Amino acid sequence: MLADGSEVLCVDNFFTGRRMNVAHLMDDPNFELMRHDVTFPLYVEVDEIYNLACPASPVHYQYDPVQTTKTSVHGAINMLGLAKRTGAKILQASTSEVYGDPTVHPQPESYWGNVNPVGSRSCYDEGKRCAETLFFDYHRQHGLEIKVARIFNTYGPRMHPEDGRVVSNFIIQALRNEPITLYGDGSQTRSFCYVDDLIEGFIKLMATPVDFTGPVNLGNPDEFTIRQLAEQVLDLVGGSSQLVERPLPADDPKQRQPDISLARKRLGWEPQYSLEVGLPKSIEYFRSLLKEI
Ligand SMILES: NC(=O)c1ccc[n+]([C@@H]2O[C@H](COP(=O)([O-])OP(=O)(O)OC[C@H]3O[C@@H](n4cnc5c(N)ncnc54)[C@H](O)[C@@H]3O)[C@@H](O)[C@H]2O)c1
Repeated sequence: MLADGSEVLCVDNFFTGRRMNVAHLMDDPNFELMRHDVTFPLYVEVDEIYNLACPASPVHYQYDPVQTTKTSVHGAINMLGLAKRTGAKILQASTSEVYGDPTVHPQPESYWGNVNPVGSRSCYDEGKRCAETLFFDYHRQHGLEIKVARIFNTYGPRMHPEDGRVVSNFIIQALRNEPITLYGDGSQTRSFCYVDDLIEGFIKLMATPVDFTGPVNLGNPDEFTIRQLAEQVLDLVGGSSQLVERPLPADDPKQRQPDISLARKRLGWEPQYSLEVGLPKSIEYFRSLLKEI
């Protein structure tokens, strides 16, 4: 966005984000960084809002589940309030977790989901579902221009190294020659989208005509088992790590694959980065990060 000449205000409470992720932008006169928690109202002048604030990995969103729900729900109310006051377009980073442990594969946007409302993942899943409800109610009730993206597993450089997410976990374990932990037997499947593809999808979604609100799935439809991912990481990193199995966490979805027909049709978007291209870029990042630690 900066390269396109926009002014960018980046708002973060640094719960999982780090200033070093944007250090290279700090000298840009069009960039501003603000420490702020979205559970409190924000009074600034903007014309587009990308609402990404929310811890996204179980280890972080389960650390303080009440705060996680507040971030999704109060955060959405505050950002929608800001959009209402300024007349800004607003995009919500929703999630494939709104589909829960799906009974339909792959998941189209019309699928209403299979979510446990009282489990240890509910603070995230239900928080994001409620945020979607708020987006659509602000749209219907106040005429806000909204865009809702349902993001599937996304990875890439600048992920938090202690996030416990599968791609960063495997890469770090392989780089440290530690055992690579598979939850269950590793036969559960996931699809992995490289971050640059996702951002391209956000920009295209924000530019859609006013009548297009989503929700729209954004993710990479190529499906892999977790075991295949582990083997691929090990191949690329080399080293002496072994694969070890651990018990599957509660409510862990067995299969997750986006149906991206709507994004293809309405955004003209589809992922360009395969794992063969995205993984080495991520490995390179974590390799240099581990040298700094
Ligand atoms: N990466 C994925 O696979 C994925 C999948 C689905 C949805 N998403 C969504 O995309 C968004 C970004 O995810 P990410 O993977 O970059 O995670 P991340 O943890 O790297 O980024 C989340 C950011 O939100 C900030 N934040 C958290 N609580 C906040 C608060 N109360 N106020 C202000 N800032 C706050 C964090 O400090 C961090 O910078 C999240 O909303 C997440 O739910 C991500």
